Amino acid sequence: MARIAIVGTGYVGLTTGACMAEMGHTVCCLDINRRRVEDLRAGVIPIYEPGMDTLVATNVAAGRLRFSADYRDALSNVEFVVIAVPTPMSDDGQADLRYVVTASKQIARSLTAPAIVINKSTSPVGTADRISGILEAARPEFGPWSVVCNPEFLREGCAIDDCLHPARVVLGSRDMVAAHAVEALYESLDCPAIITDPYTAEMIKYGSNAFLAMRISFVNEVARICDALGADVTTVAKGMGLDPRIGSAFLQAGLGYGGSCFPKDVSALAGMAVSAGLDPQLLQSTRAINDGQRDWAVKRLEETLGHLEGATVAVLGLAFKPDTDDLREAPALDIIQSLIDRGASVRAYDPVAMPGAERLGVPALLCGSIEECVSGVDAVLLATDWDVFIHADWARIGQLMRGTVVFDGRNCLDPQVIARHGMNYLGVGRPGLVERTSQREARERIAAVA
Ligand code: UGA
Repeated sequence: MARIAIVGTGYVGLTTGACMAEMGHTVCCLDINRRRVEDLRAGVIPIYEPGMDTLVATNVAAGRLRFSADYRDALSNVEFVVIAVPTPMSDDGQADLRYVVTASKQIARSLTAPAIVINKSTSPVGTADRISGILEAARPEFGPWSVVCNPEFLREGCAIDDCLHPARVVLGSRDMVAAHAVEALYESLDCPAIITDPYTAEMIKYGSNAFLAMRISFVNEVARICDALGADVTTVAKGMGLDPRIGSAFLQAGLGYGGSCFPKDVSALAGMAVSAGLDPQLLQSTRAINDGQRDWAVKRLEETLGHLEGATVAVLGLAFKPDTDDLREAPALDIIQSLIDRGASVRAYDPVAMPGAERLGVPALLCGSIEECVSGVDAVLLATDWDVFIHADWARIGQLMRGTVVFDGRNCLDPQVIARHGMNYLGVGRPGLVERTSQREARERIAAVA
């Protein structure tokens, strides 16, 4: 079993640290934020992630996991150092590597013996070489340094399961001995490993996220076409997904993707392409469709209500997806702003993201329950497919609302149930119970051209 230090206790760092401890390694998670480290030592988990509190507590109790705010302490006597710091989007859309660079310098300064450095932060092609350069410059006596790019594919909300049961482990390095040493850390996992050069490993991460984002934008574009013509995108996606060459994952139409990964990674990959003199049209369209989906939803609601000026809308769900309190790039936030810009009053509720919404100053009336949120509103817009909304008492919601429009922004409700309770269901690319004249006219135009 290995001795490992993890730099950064965000989603990736904390999950990796806790899961590597669970695999039997001895792990110290380091964060420069002392408050965060004190909280973690006290068992307070800084992120909302199902199962993380128990996993951390069990491994701390077993003596395999500890937390430190001091580089020298965390890195003393380790064989591997994992970099898991943020690579946010900079103003020009490219990945901002300042935290990776600082962490690399600190690692070089703090190690008392050579160690293999693993980069898990999503970083552009060339970053592993850049880390090597920083380490070599700072501590040539420990060279040649071995850096392994080992991207992470975990999803918020099911991070532990994704980390302990990955579909693959990707390792990219110029030092094959180091790559195999890192592979051995994961020997208890039952999945294939891809061992390659660092550029290719770095590109696998961007390619994967951009491809998933593209699928979502694709199905959202199809949903808009379905909406215009009167077809049902949920059944279209099901019918497409049954083809094993297509598969059913990430074909759920809705308000588009958010979060800390897809928007930034699509942008960063497009930025890399532009820097290389290319014109990444599919990536640009993926992004444009995703941004446009939020406007599309607001316009669709406006068209249904007749006007937004003076209307009151309840937004159910603020987090960018269920089982997380993460509000980064959440579609709900843009939609709330857009509704307000068009003169609507907005009430909002989320089962876990309310404290974050308050901190951000989300410009809606923040409510303490579903009931409070929907009382007296003209329309409900479901922005995050939390189970509590899917299984909510829709009969009661219907009674509490003033109007009747339920806009299911995630296509997760049963239109018949909503209709049975006397409300008008509106989905993303799902036909309503009454055909719109515009849909019939659009089909007639197509038939005439054909
Ligand atoms: C994503 C990837 O799924 C992970 O593999 C990757 O490791 C991670 O980014 C990362 O780079 O760190 P995550 O951002 O946690 O994970 O969330 P996803 O579950 O992928 O969902 C992203 C967004 O797409 C959410 O807003 C979700 O609502 C939306 N989505 C997802 C759809 O609109 N339709 C779908 O069919 C699937």
